[in-house]
Amino acid sequence: MIKTITIAALIFLPWWMAVFGFAGCGWIKEKEVSTINRSFLPGQRWFDTDSVHINAHGGGILLHEGVYYWFGEHKTAGRGGNTALVGIRCYSSKDLYNWKNEGVALAVEDDTNSEIVKGSVMERPKVIYNEKSGKFVMWFHLELKGQGYRAARTAVAVSDRVTGPYQYLRSYRPNAGVWPMNGHEDLSNMRFRQDLKWWTPEWMEAVKLGLFVKRDFEKGQMSRDMTVFVDDDGTAYHIHASEENLTLHISELSDDYTSFTEKWTRILPGGHNEAPAMFKRHNKYYLLASGCTGWKPNAARLFVAESIWGPWQPLGNPCVGNDAELTFHAQSTFVLPLKDRKDAYIFMGDRWVPENPIDGRYVWLPIRFEGDKPIIRWQNEWDLSEF
Ligand code: DGJ
Repeated sequence: MIKTITIAALIFLPWWMAVFGFAGCGWIKEKEVSTINRSFLPGQRWFDTDSVHINAHGGGILLHEGVYYWFGEHKTAGRGGNTALVGIRCYSSKDLYNWKNEGVALAVEDDTNSEIVKGSVMERPKVIYNEKSGKFVMWFHLELKGQGYRAARTAVAVSDRVTGPYQYLRSYRPNAGVWPMNGHEDLSNMRFRQDLKWWTPEWMEAVKLGLFVKRDFEKGQMSRDMTVFVDDDGTAYHIHASEENLTLHISELSDDYTSFTEKWTRILPGGHNEAPAMFKRHNKYYLLASGCTGWKPNAARLFVAESIWGPWQPLGNPCVGNDAELTFHAQSTFVLPLKDRKDAYIFMGDRWVPENPIDGRYVWLPIRFEGDKPIIRWQNEWDLSEF
């Protein structure tokens, strides 16, 4: 009997693999992945507690009442999967290795008049908790349907429950009609030539001085890749790639975190940074970013400042080792500080797969400190005992 089964398997299995490939062996994968995760495996498929690859790209994490909540872009299969066809998904975990799917926290809408209609672009969601209002506040990068990346808006939604459903409030071009705190007098009086050719030295000089700030003064500043950061005193900040992705802006959020105060600044003018992720250690602010090469990876850049308003000093690329100049084929999205461990910070990056976005991978690596300088090294596998 056993012999017959073995012979049948030997004949049948190669045929099955040839027709359906390894992916056809769903039953094998299910079995393999239904075990408990005990480590991080950067760049590999990461299965949730239902044995499905986690779908939370460009994400961020909120720790609330001892539970970690991971919010990210739900991507779908095929080229079109980079637009929002489902919404923002939420997962929960107590140990950071094993994640339970909590469903769609903010769903796309069918109403064609809605800004978050199915087919819009909803990227890089970040959720923070507002102690005063008791509400969870989600910010994300919004691009209006059918407009590519031209709208360059940031949007906000709120919920009474951490996992949602979140109620969409509105989108912004931040700081309309407000000059930045740095360079305000100069900018309001400055005249710029509008006919300068892009990428020439004269144009770059004008960009650094505020060519695009002035251009967008009335309608509000562009906001593409973004993150939010809550400081120790509870003040929250919105950090976003503005001015055609050439300059980052930092804007203070209102007490309830759902709008902007008029306090904002430009940092690293002309630096061409996106994918911002901020963290704080020993009273220093660190800002991790990438260059702007679309879905393709490039070298990460790190900056440090004594005050969130700057001045920000470059610290170079924090990644070291093989493929460090490509951020290990990933792009920053968040840095997670572990409250219960000293000096423990996790770099979270996305390895994008634009032709099949649902298969995008996560690269989580420990951040170590050499003196005050953060360093990120590749590891095939690691766990929290390393901190
Ligand atoms: C790079 C950004 O970091 C991503 O979030 C996304 O906006 C892509 N560009 C789009 O090309």
